[in-house]
Amino acid sequence: MTIEPTDPLDPEALRERAASALLAARDRTHLLTTCVEEPELVAQHSPLMSPLVWDLAHIGNQEEQWLLRTVGGRDALRPDIDSVYDAFEHPRAARPSLPLLTPAEAHSYVAEVRGRVLDILEASPLRGGPLLDAGFAFGMIAQHEQQHDETMLITHQLRGGDAVLGAADPLPAPPGILPSEVLVPGGPFTMGTSTEPWALDNERPAHRRLVPPFLIDTTPVSNGAYQRFIEDGGYDEPLWWTEEGWAHVREHRLRAPLFWKRDGGQWLRRRFGVTEPVPPDEPVLHVSWYEADAYARWAGRRLPTEPEWEKAARHDPATGRAMRYPWGDEDPAPEHANLGQRHLRPAPVGSYPEGESPFGIRQLIGDVWEWTASDFLPYPGFAAFPYREYSEVFFGDRYKVLRGGSFAVGPVACRGTFRNWDLPVRRQIFSGFRTARDAEHTAGA
Ligand code: AVJ
Ligand code: FE
Repeated sequence: MTIEPTDPLDPEALRERAASALLAARDRTHLLTTCVEEPELVAQHSPLMSPLVWDLAHIGNQEEQWLLRTVGGRDALRPDIDSVYDAFEHPRAARPSLPLLTPAEAHSYVAEVRGRVLDILEASPLRGGPLLDAGFAFGMIAQHEQQHDETMLITHQLRGGDAVLGAADPLPAPPGILPSEVLVPGGPFTMGTSTEPWALDNERPAHRRLVPPFLIDTTPVSNGAYQRFIEDGGYDEPLWWTEEGWAHVREHRLRAPLFWKRDGGQWLRRRFGVTEPVPPDEPVLHVSWYEADAYARWAGRRLPTEPEWEKAARHDPATGRAMRYPWGDEDPAPEHANLGQRHLRPAPVGSYPEGESPFGIRQLIGDVWEWTASDFLPYPGFAAFPYREYSEVFFGDRYKVLRGGSFAVGPVACRGTFRNWDLPVRRQIFSGFRTARDAEHTAGA
């Protein structure tokens, strides 16, 4: 089903859209929390991550707080557990020692909440205030669950032991030859949105930006290209690194992306319990901002800024309008992008011709989150909604913005305006990048 930004917001269509987004998220949550035995659900597989069973009950608790209590006006079901599942009260490393619901209790809790929430959705007019209008709160909670589905997939990747996530769909056929970069002309474009019904607070409001002309890679940087950086001594040359980046790679003796291992003459990588040769034509994955930034400098280039990335992904030069996605305004379909954990790996660089932007740029949406040069900052006119802890408390120069979504994120939690952020050292996330450069200022440009 497709909603154009100009479509009237028909309540039946919205109700259907909300129900199916909630259901899709829950199918994935269920799989990720039933494919391993109980000890694996309660264990902490990395201090960077929560036990899977914390994510599960946290998903239900957020849904209870926003949809059952706030939107539905119902009595609290489990007010006693709010604090245990408050992400701000307990850092991830401390969560295994909390009095957590058992896996069985957590599964029945989320099911109980969901049953009541579907009744509330059925009866809701989906209008009458900013939380209700266009079903915003339902969309927000579906996106929240899909974000935690990505978080839980990261935990599965960090978990030692055998592969448990089953065979995924085969990937699309590898592409033909593409130009390595394209020109995005200078001039104003519209960044952010004021009309996308389920856009989160940090994507708002729409505003005009002037971007000088630049060139940007048609595809994400591949493993093969990143290997040339490694083999050229990239990790031993301070010239390519920022001061903090250099200190970080020295201190942690980094030599390659996370999960890579040198084996004689070749690089291997571990992916969801399977060790295999690094595929040279796949987008590089599990690199930090520091590594992405150093690679770009080595290549004589730089990371795109966030406005450049969004212009490349949304600007339609034929109409001057900003689109929802690189391919237009239709919701993502399997032929557009690698999303939703269908494949459990990025597709070869240059895949998804039907997801191409008008400038000829591929894989902006899906496959790998793309680091940008930019800090996570509010847009002019930003207003925190509905809670400051979603975005506002993270604004500043500590976090770098990632764009475009990975193979692990659900389609409802990914669009041309969607903003993700993380610390520049992080690389357990499904992060990659593409590079850019200033356009030469030739006559007439
Ligand atoms: C937007 C991915 C940075 O996981 O910390 C989940 C999303 N916020 N629950 C995160 C989120 C609250 C958030 N990121
Ligand atoms: Fe959360």
